[in-house]
Amino acid sequence: MDSASANSPGRFITLEGGEGAGKSSQIQVVKDYLEARGIDVVVTREPGGTPVGQEIRNLLVSGDKDKWSPLSETLLILADRAAHLERVIRPALADGKYVVCDRFFDSTRAYQGIAGGLGLEVIHNLQQPVLGTTLPDVTLLLDIDPEKGLSRAQERGGDLRFESKTLAYHQTLRQAFLDFAKQEPERMVVIDADRDIEAVSTDIITVLGERLDV
Ligand code: TMP
Repeated sequence: MDSASANSPGRFITLEGGEGAGKSSQIQVVKDYLEARGIDVVVTREPGGTPVGQEIRNLLVSGDKDKWSPLSETLLILADRAAHLERVIRPALADGKYVVCDRFFDSTRAYQGIAGGLGLEVIHNLQQPVLGTTLPDVTLLLDIDPEKGLSRAQERGGDLRFESKTLAYHQTLRQAFLDFAKQEPERMVVIDADRDIEAVSTDIITVLGERLDV
């Protein structure tokens, strides 16, 4: 698999995981670490990394858990991703920036492909034209027991459409992410997110140093 840096000067880092894994706090740590080394960083997220993507995000994350089927979710997410790649991610990578993205294509594979039951082949065929050769250089998988993650997410509040899917869905999701990491150890690193924020940050910084030579 080609990574972003195969055809652009920037680097592409993604954070993945189930609900309540602490991605948002750790993204800030990644940004501060890279900026302290003089690197230009763009922090972004999916869904919702562009103004139109924010509209799609609102459609996806609110309302009844069964309001969209996994196929409808995928199509909405890919519309978001296409705009995000065209308007934010590829231009930043071409400028030599480091893009740090909260969720990307592994989320679609895990949520819609495995937990949602569409299968990885369907997801691959749908998302390949959107992705082209833009793939992450490094993916940090923040792993946590879904029962703990979901209770963290409930405490945080807000729109909880995905959080209200069954525990079995979230357990399948966790295993899917772990399986991806096993299949692609050169890209994906599993971080135990069931620890205090500082311990998780220390691991992340070590991984970035090793994998990106920064
Ligand atoms: P967030 O709360 O981590 O920002 O993510 C919003 C929700 O979007 C999250 O519950 C998972 C869902 N999602 C998918 O189901 N598939 C995807 O491909 C992406 C990017 C997000």
